[in-house]
Amino acid sequence: MNNFYWLIIVFCLFVSYGCESSSTDLAQPTPSLKTAYEPSFFIGAAAGTSHILGEDSAALQLLQQEFNALTAENDMKWMHIHPQPDSFHFDIADRFIQLCLDNDMYAVGHTLVWHSQLADWVQEVEDSAAMAKVLQHHIATIVGRYKGRIKAWDVVNEALNEDGTLRSSIFYDLMGEAYIEEAFKQAAIADPEAELIYNDYNMWKPEKRAGAIRLVKNLQEKGIKIDGVGMQGHWSLVGPDLVDIENSIREYAALGVKVHITELDITVLPNPWDLEGAAVEQNFDAYIGDERMDAYRQGLPDSVQQQLAERYTGAFKIFLKYREDIKRVSFWGIHDGHSWLNGWPIQGRTNHPLLFDRTYQPKLAYQQLLDLP
Ligand code: G3I
Repeated sequence: MNNFYWLIIVFCLFVSYGCESSSTDLAQPTPSLKTAYEPSFFIGAAAGTSHILGEDSAALQLLQQEFNALTAENDMKWMHIHPQPDSFHFDIADRFIQLCLDNDMYAVGHTLVWHSQLADWVQEVEDSAAMAKVLQHHIATIVGRYKGRIKAWDVVNEALNEDGTLRSSIFYDLMGEAYIEEAFKQAAIADPEAELIYNDYNMWKPEKRAGAIRLVKNLQEKGIKIDGVGMQGHWSLVGPDLVDIENSIREYAALGVKVHITELDITVLPNPWDLEGAAVEQNFDAYIGDERMDAYRQGLPDSVQQQLAERYTGAFKIFLKYREDIKRVSFWGIHDGHSWLNGWPIQGRTNHPLLFDRTYQPKLAYQQLLDLP
């Protein structure tokens, strides 16, 4: 073939490539949860260590495609980030922030003060003044490091009992309610722009709601900054009643704070003795391997898939109704294979609580939520 024919072939290839790329440019972007809900609120997820470190590329792809808010599921908890009085481990938290920055995600810091997953040394603190110093050092160091990059902090996590009274913990036992005030004060000093949240489970329960409202009002009356209430959302196919969820959203919003749905998942498996919420100290080892408690090992039947979708759409209809008051809805995980609910309250079960299954495929609930707004 002479040079003239080669030139013709190259020219044709160039023209056809140009046409193809311009038609791709005109194509609609793939629909996603984050774009569908962008006018209303952020759609978030919790990332496990393997996701943050990029070891699960399929999960990472889902994160990038579907979500615009991110929480580290475990890596910023006290025992991991501040294991000794003078030693902080920031490696994974730094990677988490980078992941959020690279993907333009609203980064959530979880969590500064929590009785669980605490470093052992904190349990040895002896008096109120010493604990106040520990809180100041912990919060100033971590919030200060991520100033301007973490957009919202779960400042205090799970401080309430189910009846709305304050839970006994090393913080409460030494300082009383002042530990909550101190934590919020220190967080506001370290990053005045960050949104500061009180986060808990079973926030739909009227008694617990009353306790949370009292806690928020106490801070507000003392002029201490609080911007949001986090309703964790560890729910099931049968409860809580959507009316209770709606009442809580409305009443928290009436305080002038934003509502964050922070840890949403819907268990499809039974809980022993109608257990509610997410208290991690509860576990039921006697049921390990019990098939009656683990009915969907081979997959979720269509009828239950349908129930899950209805439950999610029921909740999201309420979220959309209160879109002005809701800042974010975050799922507690990315796909079923990685959910903490495979290990709690009974270890080794096959649960199906999220929108993506074990093969990273969207479930019926995903499709229905995508079509809802
Ligand atoms: O990192 C160790 C690993 O080295 C070890 O081999 C493995 C063996 O069990 O355990 C690993 O630690 C586990 C850790 O998750 C990371 O996977 C812990 O045992 C396990 O207890 C821990 O569970 C976490 C739980 O908080 C602990 O409190 C869950 O992943 C996490 O989803 C859950 O999240 C909490 C929120 O922070 C607060 N609200 C409730 C929610 C659900 O409990």
